[in-house]
Amino acid sequence: MQLDETQFETFVFGVGIGIGACVLAMAAVVRPSKASATQRAAKEPLLKTAVHREPLLSTEERLVARLSSQFNLSTDTLVRIQRQIIVDMKRGLAVDNGAIKMLPTHVTHRPKGTERGSYLALDLGGTNFRVCEVTFDGVGNASMLQKKFKIEDAVKTGDGEALFDFIAECVKIFLVENHGSQEGAKLVESRKWQLGFCFSFPVNQVSIDEGSLLVWTKGFTASNVVGVNVVKLLQDAFKRQNLNIAVSALVNDTTGTLISLAYTKPNTYAGVILGTGSNCAYVEKVANIEKLHGPREGLDEMLINMEWGGFDDAQVVIPRTKWDHALDSNTPTPGTWTFEQLISGMYLGEVVRLVCVDLAETGELFAKCKLSKEMRTIYAFDTAYMSAIESDHTHDLADTKSILEDKLHMPGSTLVDRRILRTICALVGTRSARLAACGVAAVVCKMNKLSEGCIVGMDGSLFELYPYYK
Ligand code: GLC
Repeated sequence: MQLDETQFETFVFGVGIGIGACVLAMAAVVRPSKASATQRAAKEPLLKTAVHREPLLSTEERLVARLSSQFNLSTDTLVRIQRQIIVDMKRGLAVDNGAIKMLPTHVTHRPKGTERGSYLALDLGGTNFRVCEVTFDGVGNASMLQKKFKIEDAVKTGDGEALFDFIAECVKIFLVENHGSQEGAKLVESRKWQLGFCFSFPVNQVSIDEGSLLVWTKGFTASNVVGVNVVKLLQDAFKRQNLNIAVSALVNDTTGTLISLAYTKPNTYAGVILGTGSNCAYVEKVANIEKLHGPREGLDEMLINMEWGGFDDAQVVIPRTKWDHALDSNTPTPGTWTFEQLISGMYLGEVVRLVCVDLAETGELFAKCKLSKEMRTIYAFDTAYMSAIESDHTHDLADTKSILEDKLHMPGSTLVDRRILRTICALVGTRSARLAACGVAAVVCKMNKLSEGCIVGMDGSLFELYPYYK
């Protein structure tokens, strides 16, 4: 290993968690906003297509207008949201219980591109759990081996120790596969590794390698983890597997996104995740982090994990629909992480499903079909269906028909049904993108980077795969 500890702490995860490759490709350059007419037009095609271009029946038109008025956010509202995010960011930097948590990451500098060595990295918090081995060559290049493991709901919501045992077993499988074939499992156990743990949940971090979980998000509820140092839980699980691994750093995925891009693009000042969950990390001046405990001498900047999913939990600035409230009341912690519910991939399909069920019950949608068991099942309408529906450019919305029939077991839809469904998807997806844009705008303004510009790293399945989202 040729990195010293500080170098390791400050950057290994960024590239290490495997997010790097995607992020590099997805860099969004934020510049002083003189968006061209073409750029502006490109932002609006969905609703125009759905709302204005189709030959609408008057009842359909009325329904679409009603739905649009509930989901569309006016420019004034978006500006108010952006301003309130900045107000809450400032408050969160001063106090521990702000509406946006603004968690210090203890990452105090960014990579130089000269770091070298091979490290393990884990990524827990999205749809899959990933184990990676990353090798840095010291001249700005990183190569990576990775393996994805599906985490069953029973593991996410069961016993905490069992969750960490599952993680350690996956690491062992990965090491045996990549280093054990000739050497045998014993050698895997004897080699000493340094590992970075990307744990994408709100953590009260007291140093780079210690932090306790504040609250589970994204459907995880494993017991006996809240309030506990997750690095110790992982380290203990490695011991139970006889693995000689030192957990050297704990980071959030947003922090990793920022750092990995900064490895090759030093002007990167923020990292945003738009995937199963949504959140942002950015570079803050240490002098502005009033609540920071411990010595500050010689420290200029620190990355802040905002945990913006908790913005507006008091529900004062963002207008919500009855379907948003219904979704929230069915989460493990109602009334919390409501901004994330309006934005992230875990929830968008469920909002669409709730609207559909409601309209079917009033006879305004799917009047000739029977609501299937799937359509009545919570979270059964995958956000990936929305992507496919919004990408459906066939004249009779045949792809949408296939999703309704094959995935949701709803035969018999009319073209009008399918057009309305596509409009609902467009409304919910566009609202998400606009709210995420408010967050990015707020962060860039807070950093005073609006005139000089900066790079914001973006990653996550929603950003990568959802049509028109960018
Ligand atoms: C959730 C988590 C946050 C994470 C985000 C994206 O909001 O609380 O820590 O960064 O999802 O994965």
